[in-house]
Amino acid sequence: MKKGKKLYEGKAKIIYTTTDKNLVIQYFKDDATAFNNLKKSKIEGKGVLNNRISEHILNNINQIGIKTHLIKRLNMREQLIELCEIFPVEFIVRNIATGSLTKRLGIADGAVLKKPLIEFSYKNDDLGDPVVSKEHILEFGWVDNPETLDAIIYKCFRINDFMQGMFRGVNIKLVDFKLEFGRSTIDRKILLADEISPDTCRLWDVSSEKKLDKDRFRKDLGNIIQAYQEVARR
Ligand code: TMP
Repeated sequence: MKKGKKLYEGKAKIIYTTTDKNLVIQYFKDDATAFNNLKKSKIEGKGVLNNRISEHILNNINQIGIKTHLIKRLNMREQLIELCEIFPVEFIVRNIATGSLTKRLGIADGAVLKKPLIEFSYKNDDLGDPVVSKEHILEFGWVDNPETLDAIIYKCFRINDFMQGMFRGVNIKLVDFKLEFGRSTIDRKILLADEISPDTCRLWDVSSEKKLDKDRFRKDLGNIIQAYQEVARR
């Protein structure tokens, strides 16, 4: 599979074409951003770790019967993936209240939620990815029909159940995370896309509650790469 031209560059990844029009290469950069690009830095080795961690998690999700865009990891920084038309919605699942939920609604940080909570935000950097409702998503056609949206929401909760168990087994609390989905350009099937890594999850050590995720960067807590290495190791 030969790597072609750059198709898209995001904040943490680059997508390249290949000789197959339906397959693309996802390259993991070391760049980190927070607060909609206001804070930026390079974290040496982050891309390599996220590539590996995301490969591991997506392969496991595939094994529980949820299709993902991942075909295979190609090398330290690249994965071969199915090209998708991404729904412009971030699906956020929360088990413990923290981050923007506590800021927006005045909920106590660390409060354990009675059951997992799903939120949606509209992927639009100019607007700062605002929180939206299911009704917004359908009204503005960000996901084409209610059945598809319900199927995606169902997948989000299954992924949460699975990942909570997986992380619990290595003494990590899955606090919250973000998922993205798209339609495969091959057969229009819904695929889990993007990445799942400490960039897109909040992960706390069970015993010490130490943050093992991108909050170390967002909040200037230091030892970012050590935390990502710890997640990869476990
Ligand atoms: P939030 O509390 O800032 O809304 O973040 C919720 C979760 O979503 C957290 O695990 C971090 C993740 N996230 C992303 O992956 N990308 C983003 O752009 C944002 C804002 C959050």
